[in-house]
Amino acid sequence: MVIAKRVGVDVILWLVVACFVVEGNERARPIAGPDIYEGRNVAKDVLAPGEIINNVMSFGAKPDGKFDCTQAFMDAWRATCKSKVQARVLVPLGRFVVSAMYFAGPCTTPGPVTVQVEGTVVATTDISEYVDGEWLMFQDLSGIKLIGGGTFDGQGKDSWSQTENCETDSDSACVRAPSSIFFSRVNNGIIQNIKTLNPKGFHIFVTNCANIRLRLLKLTAPGTSPNTDGIHISHSINVKISKSNIETGDDCVSMIQGVNNVTIKRLKCGPGHGISIGSLGKYQDELEVRGIRVENCTLVGTTNGLRIKSWPEKYSGLATDISYSDITMPSLVKIANVGFINVKGTTISPIAVDLRCSKQFPCENIQLHNIDLKLLGPILPSGARCANVKPVYGGIQMPPACP
Ligand SMILES: *[C@@H]1O[C@H](CO)[C@@H](O)[C@H](O)[C@H]1NC(C)=O
Ligand SMILES: *[C@@H]1O[C@H](CO)[C@@H](O)[C@H](O)[C@H]1NC(C)=O
Repeated sequence: MVIAKRVGVDVILWLVVACFVVEGNERARPIAGPDIYEGRNVAKDVLAPGEIINNVMSFGAKPDGKFDCTQAFMDAWRATCKSKVQARVLVPLGRFVVSAMYFAGPCTTPGPVTVQVEGTVVATTDISEYVDGEWLMFQDLSGIKLIGGGTFDGQGKDSWSQTENCETDSDSACVRAPSSIFFSRVNNGIIQNIKTLNPKGFHIFVTNCANIRLRLLKLTAPGTSPNTDGIHISHSINVKISKSNIETGDDCVSMIQGVNNVTIKRLKCGPGHGISIGSLGKYQDELEVRGIRVENCTLVGTTNGLRIKSWPEKYSGLATDISYSDITMPSLVKIANVGFINVKGTTISPIAVDLRCSKQFPCENIQLHNIDLKLLGPILPSGARCANVKPVYGGIQMPPACP
């Protein structure tokens, strides 16, 4: 335990320095290098010839749900990351209690590092152990796979009562609660076939990353849990989310400034707040959100469907190339207070504005303000389609407003 704390501090100090270096560059968009997984069958996990398996049990972890395995996990990670041959961390079946820790690179292995979790990784509940703000922090890595079918249990219940009022009470000194899986400065990352349960804060937080795939995820928290976004993305380029199921208390997916080229496909969302972009336009010099495609998704029991939250009276021109297509919103819930404000760019869907609401619960307070969407390809006007909704229009309407 004592050793665990000391090693933790070493790593933390190093990273604090790294953070300062990056800080001045914070607004620079990450640059995507080559996508090493492009065209590969990423669903398949194959051991590389001679790959070393570092089982956390060989480093002292105990699968009893009580023993603090942080040191064992750190040692298994270090052995893996510093290996000269291909290597992976294996977390076998069982319950492994782990406090806040870094999976920090850069690594020296010849190929991507794999963390294969088959069992359940359980967070400690003492929030004072999370001084760096997150739980499992994957940082400065080039090539990482987090796979294995296992579960990350954030044990968030105790901390939810402390963050409950953060959204309504903006002046309060609320600190964002730790995300369960934090990817920062990761190039070429895959999170696949993983479950997260009851995070303290976000389930997954992706920032300053490039070429990230998030697939076959099952993220679960009560619909009443505060600020438990499923996947929160900022300052990242080329992110693909697919075939996942998110039931949570806040946005299923939220994207804020500096996000470029995100595809969300075959996501089932709900309960939750839906899929959201923003809030945008709050600060000057904010990086725009560009190239978001949401396709073939189902939103069930979400308080909002798709929303772009913006501050219309402040700064503008921040969200471009956004398309929503083939979205099913089962209509048990009323859709209300959705604003599409200052949306301009091109669309790949001939029906750029598609607002079809339930007969039983018509949509309310849908605002379309300054919509300027042109169909990509042949320069054709795009269309609008509405049912059971009377949008409030303002500014430009391209496509023309619903009749
Ligand atoms: C967007 O990201 C995908 C991978 O998620 C990639 O295949 C594609 O080339 C990217 N598009 C652009 C314009 O960079
Ligand atoms: C949407 O996803 C379902 C499976 O969830 C699939 O069967 C269907 O072909 C997809 N539709 C489109 C238009 O991609």
